[in-house]
Amino acid sequence: MKLPNFGENPSYDCWLSYRTIKNAEVLKEYTEAFSGISVLEESLVFKTALNELKFGLEKILGKAPADTADSDGGIVLGFCENIKSLPEELASGVEKEGYIVRYRDGKTIIAGKTDRGVLYGVFAFLRLLQLETPLEKINLVNNPANMLRMINHWDNMDGTIERGYAGNSIFYANNGFIDDKTRVRDYARLLASIGINGIVINNVNVHYHETRLITKLYLPEVAKLADIFREYGITVFLSVNFASPVELGELPTADPLDVRVQNWWREKAEEIYSYIPDFGGFLVKADSEYRPGPFTYGRDHAEGANMLAKALEPFGGVVIWRCFVYNCKQDWRDRKTDRANAAYDTFMPLDGKFMDNVILQIKNGPMDFQVREPVSPLFGGLTKTNQMLELQITQEYTGQQKHICYLVPQWKEILDFDTFAEGRGSTVREIIAGKIYPQKYGGIAAVSNIGSDLNWTGHVLAQANLYGYGCLAFNPDRSAEEITEEWVRLTFSSHPYVVKTISSILLKSWRTYENYTSPLGIGWMVNPGHHYGPNVDGYEYSPWGTYHRADCFGIGVDRSVETGTGFAGRYHKENAEMYNNIETCPEELLLFFHYVPYTYRLKSGKTLIQHIYDTHFEGVEQVRKFREQWLTLKELIDKERFEHVLGRLEIQIRDAIEWRDVINSYFYRKSGIPDEKGRTIY
Ligand code: GCU
Repeated sequence: MKLPNFGENPSYDCWLSYRTIKNAEVLKEYTEAFSGISVLEESLVFKTALNELKFGLEKILGKAPADTADSDGGIVLGFCENIKSLPEELASGVEKEGYIVRYRDGKTIIAGKTDRGVLYGVFAFLRLLQLETPLEKINLVNNPANMLRMINHWDNMDGTIERGYAGNSIFYANNGFIDDKTRVRDYARLLASIGINGIVINNVNVHYHETRLITKLYLPEVAKLADIFREYGITVFLSVNFASPVELGELPTADPLDVRVQNWWREKAEEIYSYIPDFGGFLVKADSEYRPGPFTYGRDHAEGANMLAKALEPFGGVVIWRCFVYNCKQDWRDRKTDRANAAYDTFMPLDGKFMDNVILQIKNGPMDFQVREPVSPLFGGLTKTNQMLELQITQEYTGQQKHICYLVPQWKEILDFDTFAEGRGSTVREIIAGKIYPQKYGGIAAVSNIGSDLNWTGHVLAQANLYGYGCLAFNPDRSAEEITEEWVRLTFSSHPYVVKTISSILLKSWRTYENYTSPLGIGWMVNPGHHYGPNVDGYEYSPWGTYHRADCFGIGVDRSVETGTGFAGRYHKENAEMYNNIETCPEELLLFFHYVPYTYRLKSGKTLIQHIYDTHFEGVEQVRKFREQWLTLKELIDKERFEHVLGRLEIQIRDAIEWRDVINSYFYRKSGIPDEKGRTIY
């Protein structure tokens, strides 16, 4: 397959479509204002910034800018301290990796403190032009809230992607690396344009071949990828197998307290850095879902993580240690063990015991990327440990990129969640940014949703999730509405009707998906293994309803302190009391925290069972409405994307109906209570 170059296919271009400006007045104004470029520095990333600026301007203005900026009409690209015309009070507001973009009296400055900052400034500037921003409004200072803004790939070397819904890996095929790196470079561009600065290039489940990524067999190839990402200011990390010394046949043990193991990793780190001098570090999934870890040797996770951290420390590397640890072999008759408690109970006693180049990576919720979960109580619980938030862009439990499920509103709720750790205002976003408890490293990571499909994300509208993630990682204060509108304008068109229609579909899609799948925070109920489609008792680690506890009287998991698993009590007082009490628990999480009889009346006055029926019917109707709305865009967007989304909406309607009928009929049979509205429930 020949890949299009950027500018040839709108599905491939994503939000970097750089359409030539049609409005003659704006075009004239811009052409005069941005006629030449002068560059004050030299470095790899600077070169990228310059190329991107030239490429973008040529597309947007239809004319290449000159290599000079002596007079009016010039853009100056440089470090803040070297731009004389930049007032000190403005320059001082720019932080590491932040940027300033400013038009004033015929001159434009794009500046940062680092070359990454300048690159982000260039992309921000081109965005402003795409949005036809008036010259006097080209005036931004933006600093990233988060130090680490990472993408995690769950790519395997055989070319498959765990939980990937957009084709195969763009890095690997047939247990080797793909030689043609065009796709990787284009991807690096997309990521840099939204401010991503780190990438883990292999699956957290590290199998036979991936274990060898840290050996001389593959390190030269990893280095080639690192070279490409480096051009775009992105640092490469690897997921490693905790038992590597054993699995590579070099030691009989992987015990972190064994000196041979410690030395092995120290030498390994040295070897890796000899290939990739700016290597970021390791991501580790240990003692979880059958992955090896320190528990095998009777050691705790601090001992495991610190051993690796010590090996990386001399080179400036970090260990990103995942908190996704739980016992997946739970017996269904065991009503006391609660997976929701697992990460908290494993890591809280270790708070303060990790080295300062270890970062704990915590999934947003205590379970596993369900359509809705409460925020993990480790946020606000841990006070002496570096921590970062893990989100899932790939839609494992949220429609697998066949359904529209725009996750930015969900992520906003998570980031804005107040933990009350240090009183009101101790939000997750402040915590991961290191503003509540000082931390040497912090930030945010998310599991990628891209693959080899021409449109990158399987569903064109799922590109919005990747874009939105980058925006929020850089600046979590932005609203979902603002990000959505911007994405539609950059990706499709600024036509007000197009913007309004697509934005409205996106912004309603999460709640809609929740309605026809699993409202009230119950989650799961998916087919085992691939996790697609409805199956109330299907999830592999929840046989016979371990995770929903539905019987003929009611449904939900009692996680209260007094009679339940005690999970509600892991939060700070304000949240603990709110969740613990069925009256004050937010209804969207009611069944997460409480076992509730079907006849219980919700705030709307409806019984629980009626609410379940209604939301499932409403969800399907809403998807039908999405289709109607989409049909009205026929003349306003390109045929290819129009037809593609329409096709996916047909699938979404079909599958939403299946969800509705499977779930409603299950609860009708369990409860024996018919629908008040007399609808047929199959
Ligand atoms: C989920 C997912 C797995 C993944 C795991 C993880 O359980 O289904 O595919 O490996 O999360 O985050 O490690």
